[in-house]
Amino acid sequence: MTKLNLRDYSGTSEGKMKRRKRAPETAAVHGAADLEKKNAPVSAPIYQTSTFEVTDNDEQQRVTGTDRYYTRWGNPTVTLAEQTLAEIEGTEGARVFASGMGAITSTVLALLKTGDHIVAQRDIYGGVTKFFSQWLPKLGIETTFVDTTNYALHERAIRPNTRLLYVESPSNPTLRVIDFAKIAALAKKHGLITMIDSTFGTPINQHPAEYGFDLVMHSGTKYLSGHADLTCGVICGRQEFMQQLWETRTTLGNCMDPHAAWLLIRGLKTLAVRVQRQNENAQRVADLLERRAKVRRVYYPFLKSHPEYAIARQQMTGGGGMVTFEVEGTGEDARRVSEAMRLFTLATSLGSVESLVSIPVLTSHAMISAEQRKGMGVTEQMIRLSVGVENAEELIADLDQALESVAAHHSVTTGL
Ligand SMILES: Cc1ncc(COP(=O)(O)O)c(C=O)c1O
Repeated sequence: MTKLNLRDYSGTSEGKMKRRKRAPETAAVHGAADLEKKNAPVSAPIYQTSTFEVTDNDEQQRVTGTDRYYTRWGNPTVTLAEQTLAEIEGTEGARVFASGMGAITSTVLALLKTGDHIVAQRDIYGGVTKFFSQWLPKLGIETTFVDTTNYALHERAIRPNTRLLYVESPSNPTLRVIDFAKIAALAKKHGLITMIDSTFGTPINQHPAEYGFDLVMHSGTKYLSGHADLTCGVICGRQEFMQQLWETRTTLGNCMDPHAAWLLIRGLKTLAVRVQRQNENAQRVADLLERRAKVRRVYYPFLKSHPEYAIARQQMTGGGGMVTFEVEGTGEDARRVSEAMRLFTLATSLGSVESLVSIPVLTSHAMISAEQRKGMGVTEQMIRLSVGVENAEELIADLDQALESVAAHHSVTTGL
């Protein structure tokens, strides 16, 4: 059984945590709904509107800047989603965006200016590598990419103009795990803003804000919504940052649609049970793959063979639902294995209830150069699994038949 996220919710670290009243599992179900209110709908209403009527122009001026002015500024359903997310993540506030990339790009544009510098770990989502290495230089913002877990290199890369320390843990797709305490201490020492992409970790398995991270980001498209039916991005953090993000989002127009916000609120209610089941299924899948001869290497934070196993066990309550492995053979073999799967659906993305399989060089890391992929250790033989909530035995049987069918293909074509 996966450990439940039992910890002290008094919120002590660094004075940056909001005091928790409820555990994340409870907050996810009850959200920001007012429990005192009688005869209220149990399910949050969708304010599917772009604008709000006012009685006169004095009121018009009063509502400007609230969530009852114009939906690009804010919307009550969107506010409910944000309040729920902030409570789950244990931060003062949260902002939602139209996508995970929208959340990242808006945050960087909100907080950095021409001449600023970013230190980022090397193993991160390809879309972010592209934004940092191809887009930000046009605005005069440079990034130094450093070996993900070599913290001396992180420190050496810091310059007088460095503003942001950007990390992702566990990373996509190699599932590297960074040491939260070390990164938070480094940022504190040099007065940097820390931002973590915690998408793979989920707010059920880890809470970087407890270690002092300033900004915790999620592609809400994945585990938070959990049903592959919307795109959204989330940033959780202190109120001072949330205000800047709100202003930037309003200007860039990167807002979330109220209907998508409602789907997100509904998805969040089952976040804890989904993630606990995905943790269990993924662990079984990872254990199985490690025993298979046709598999060269398995990447999963809660496998003893994982290079950061000790730190993963310390700062995570579950290993997560993502498992990456490399097949013995060629990139063509990896493609064949992924296409031979029946229960794992061949599709990019992750974190939903159904199990998905994808080839990182063709999907999550297709948009960056072969050289950048090589630096991250992303190979053609690599297959990424997003393990869902199905029956674990059936998932394992599907993987076995896919690996065997490719082995059989080899013996037919080579005559062995
Ligand atoms: C780790 C990670 N971060 C960010 C993103 C971007 O999120 P979105 O697709 O919602 O824009 C992704 C997308 O796959 C991701 O895997």
